[in-house]
Amino acid sequence: LGASKVSQLVSQDLPKVFMSRRADSHKGSHGKVTVIGGDFGMTGAVRLAAEGCLRAGAGLVTVISRPEHQALICGTRPELMFRGCELVDMEVYHKLGWANVLVIGPGLGVTDWGYNLLKAVDLAEKPSVIDADALNLLCQLSFSNPHWVLTPHPGEAARLLGVTVTEVEQDRFKAVQALHDKYGGVIVLKGAGTLIFDGVHCVVAPVGNPGLASGGCGDVLAGVIGALIAQGYSGMQAAYFGVLIHGDAADLAAQAGERGMLASDLMPYIRQLVN
Ligand code: APR
Ligand code: MG
Repeated sequence: LGASKVSQLVSQDLPKVFMSRRADSHKGSHGKVTVIGGDFGMTGAVRLAAEGCLRAGAGLVTVISRPEHQALICGTRPELMFRGCELVDMEVYHKLGWANVLVIGPGLGVTDWGYNLLKAVDLAEKPSVIDADALNLLCQLSFSNPHWVLTPHPGEAARLLGVTVTEVEQDRFKAVQALHDKYGGVIVLKGAGTLIFDGVHCVVAPVGNPGLASGGCGDVLAGVIGALIAQGYSGMQAAYFGVLIHGDAADLAAQAGERGMLASDLMPYIRQLVN
């Protein structure tokens, strides 16, 4: 990483982060997030990201997904708002403009539907978290955007760089640097020993546990990072505090066992940790 400053993040860094809410605050004070994804067969991914976002303290969360997915996504989480999108039209642009922060990717799929939504997010020029299939679409494009936080797991990182997963894992520092050179923004290279890099500082976060290695846990992280940006943290701060909250929530959830731990089990602990 050349002259970059590398530091290690430990759980004790967290308690001093969150100040109590001002007594006169209202939901608009805590940020508005639009979470985009949940194509056919993958509605759970966007639902988990959106709930992670609410549990990490975002004031208002809207999901953009296929119109026919509204009941699936919001039926069990009525606090979520929803905007159906068949085609990316003015109403969708309006919902992107409404938000302070965008989170795109969980369950987005890699068809034209997802591609057009990712293009709209790029044009919106908002702080955005780019995860999962949005990364799989990004690797076919040449977007590089300083407003973005990219959250690839090693497989997504390999596709973004056009190398093998083994090459990413052999030198994760080199991979995170290459991802930043190519795509800009803040890079969160996930997996045991997550690395976070903004081009200047690199943070190593040896947090969490293998209980997180189950479908949906990454989606929750994307929502948490989005919520922290919406509450005023920079992309870099939101990335490392988000990874820390997510990892510590996993350790608390794992008290009941790593095996069989679900992404949903993180939610009450995320709430505890941001208070
Ligand atoms: N130790 C610590 N943290 C871990 C460990 C571990 N052994 N294993 C996984 N994690 C953490 C990662 O750091 C990351 O934060 O759990 C999260 C897993 O995120 P993803 O790999 O993105 O997994 P997820 O999105 O939940 O599910 C996989 O995502 O990208 C798509 O195609 C993929 O459909 C698949 C889905
Ligand atoms: Mg993922």
